[in-house]
Amino acid sequence: MSGAVTMEKVANLAKRRGFAFQSSEIYGGLASCWDYGPVGVELKRNVKEAWWRDMVRRRDDVVGLDCSILMHPRVWEASGHVAGFTDPMVDCKKCKGRFRADHLAELRCLEKPSKRPGECDGELTEARQFNLMFKTFMGPVEDTANVVFMRPETAQGMFVNFLNVMTSSRNKPPFGIAQIGKSFRNEITPGNFLFRTREFEQMEMEFFVKPGEDEKWFQYWLEERFDWYVRNGIKRDRLRLRTHASDELAHYAKGCADVEYEFPFGWSELEGIANRTDFDLKQHAQYSGKDLSYFDPETKERFVPYVIEPAAGADRATLAFLVDAYDEDEVEGEVRTVLRFHPRLAPVKAAVFPLLRKDGQPEKAREVFDLLRERWVVQYDQAGAIGRRYRRQDEIGTPFGVTVDHQTIADNTVTLRDRDTMQQERIPIDRIVEVLAARLEGAKA
Ligand code: GAP
Repeated sequence: MSGAVTMEKVANLAKRRGFAFQSSEIYGGLASCWDYGPVGVELKRNVKEAWWRDMVRRRDDVVGLDCSILMHPRVWEASGHVAGFTDPMVDCKKCKGRFRADHLAELRCLEKPSKRPGECDGELTEARQFNLMFKTFMGPVEDTANVVFMRPETAQGMFVNFLNVMTSSRNKPPFGIAQIGKSFRNEITPGNFLFRTREFEQMEMEFFVKPGEDEKWFQYWLEERFDWYVRNGIKRDRLRLRTHASDELAHYAKGCADVEYEFPFGWSELEGIANRTDFDLKQHAQYSGKDLSYFDPETKERFVPYVIEPAAGADRATLAFLVDAYDEDEVEGEVRTVLRFHPRLAPVKAAVFPLLRKDGQPEKAREVFDLLRERWVVQYDQAGAIGRRYRRQDEIGTPFGVTVDHQTIADNTVTLRDRDTMQQERIPIDRIVEVLAARLEGAKA
């Protein structure tokens, strides 16, 4: 790769080519909220689709769920979020800034030139706990009795539906419940583009197992989840597993490890895999008064399942795939920016071009375009020199270019250009769907 990948380069390309825009940009933007543009939405859908396919559809032991974002307020008392989902914050009496008390060394205050909080003459208040859940009101009366929370994780939906899903789907441990959906956290230090935002999508799976089998399944999911990123194109040497030290563990976890990616700003968490023990089911049993244990008719044993949880972020994964795909090389003396996505994740699978805007080529190219768009997201482009058109597709990571030229009119063949090798080969139009399917869908899973 020529030139290091920086977040600035990725964010600029993302804006210019329609991957992601700042939320409400014409009003000056809303901090750490992002909107996915026409190609970004396809990329993120493909990431979620790849996750759902591997975590639900291809497995006998995992089923899906789609819960409401608003849940009974007692859910968040039982889960520990009301009491414990907090960050310690201090306020500076001079600049009125509010800072994470445990991150003061890395932060800068609002004064110019800015210093570390507390280094100016401003006095810092005592640390106070600040809850990260967004609150709103249900119904017409805005009082404390009507407070509901925007869920800060999707996981609790799986725990409170454990019995519903187990009985309706006739599953028994070991089995999992998976969900993709929005979560909200009033993060104090959001940032790094899509990495940490206040509204984001999670892809979480709660895997219920017999106590005693939890360690085995924990190891299984660590490997499986690490491999998933590699299978979908992330370079293995930019991924690592980091085991949490005991003082880092959440209150519910017996063990936890993160899949980390080496972003331009350093190694950071992509996904956490936790052994949540029987904490959640026991808490919900206690708070709801419902028995959430499982009776195994074969062994005549009753137990509260342990839970292994691989918890990923759809936006964070999308950012990692985008950063990892970013490359620059040199073509005919010019820098070419190319996103080398795995074909499964590429937002646009192929682009169709007439070489010239005459001699029946545009009409023929539209025919090929119509043929391909039945099956894939495909673009048609007839504007400008062919080299420029290829570059435009390279920049959004389109794996294949299909060009109609004078020979097409004579023998009904097109050229197929590969994004990575830039090699071209001639294919009969009546074989183009079959050839593309083999290369796109047959690409190593
Ligand atoms: N149910 C466990 C749980 O929510 P987490 O580590 O807090 O665990 C899981 O979140 C994943 O969700 C993270 O690894 C990350 O990918 C994503 N995530 C969490 N907070 C996020 C944020 N503010 N912005 C974007 N993604 C976030």
